[in-house]
Amino acid sequence: MSFQEPIHDVAQLAMVELFTPKFEESLWFFHDVLGMTPTEDDGTSCYLRAYEDRYHHSLKLTRADHAGVGVVGWRAASPQALERRVAAIEASGRPGKWIEGHKGYGRAYEFTTPDGHKQHLFWEVEYFKPSAEQKSKLLSRPQKRPLRGVPVRRIDHINLFCSDVTKNAGFMQEHLGFQKRENVIFGGQDELACWLSVSPLVHEVAFTKDQAGPGNRLHHLAFWYGNQGQMLDLADILMEYDVRIEAGPAKHGVSQAYFMYVYEPGGNRIELFGDTGYLIFDPEWKTLTWTEENFFDGGGVWFGGELPQDFFVYGTPIVEAAAAAQAEAEAAVEPAE
Ligand SMILES: [Fe+2]
Repeated sequence: MSFQEPIHDVAQLAMVELFTPKFEESLWFFHDVLGMTPTEDDGTSCYLRAYEDRYHHSLKLTRADHAGVGVVGWRAASPQALERRVAAIEASGRPGKWIEGHKGYGRAYEFTTPDGHKQHLFWEVEYFKPSAEQKSKLLSRPQKRPLRGVPVRRIDHINLFCSDVTKNAGFMQEHLGFQKRENVIFGGQDELACWLSVSPLVHEVAFTKDQAGPGNRLHHLAFWYGNQGQMLDLADILMEYDVRIEAGPAKHGVSQAYFMYVYEPGGNRIELFGDTGYLIFDPEWKTLTWTEENFFDGGGVWFGGELPQDFFVYGTPIVEAAAAAQAEAEAAVEPAE
């Protein structure tokens, strides 16, 4: 592909909504184990944030009858950037609408990926205000590091299971300005996965081919620590408290991330990042493609063990529930004739 002028209208992944059928147990995981701080609970959802997340919340934990992902919230780079991206989405023909009154942010544009993953794009945000007790002496830190668990520092990225990786990623590239940093293609066939970003991070969003379900599901949501030592400490705690570790701690070749995948009690896969991986500053970055030759020679896992079969097929909602959720999403995004 020839050089495309970068679009910097989407600034960051700001928040993600997770559904859980085991609310109290999930809240224990995010509050006690990952050390996240609740902002408020409206009876339907509890809003939490990691200690270096700057806004009202980075995680909206919603009581539901199944696990899965609700809204993925993106902050635009400016009010003008928001208007430009909304105009681009509307010109694409995908349905969308302005919404008001969401907790933690102002007027937002709601739309979906081609698979149906619900997205919000907004500019106005409510900043977290620490109490006198929570206030840190470190000026760059919105609150003191909590004493609970092995606290995560910030939300990092989301990985969405989808029916067509290229189509879903293409929508985010073309209309929202994401750049495809790495991908996986076996035998010259369809893309199996790709990693996209709007910042020097390798990804804020990834799309993975849903090989066991209909797409429109969650593969995982990731939070970032800072160093691998803390991740090892967390692995020790998770073993003590019977939280399932699916894979890691280990290091991916893709994104060079130190990873650990765990299942929070509600069933959603959560990734803990113990390192940033590498950063991208080259404006002419070209997508790095892993094939069947090199993906299994350091791409999937650089060191530290294998990814189990579950990693490639398990997502939320689990498959039976996923089929119903997909039908509902397709009905909701059906364009008016
Ligand atoms: Fe990840």
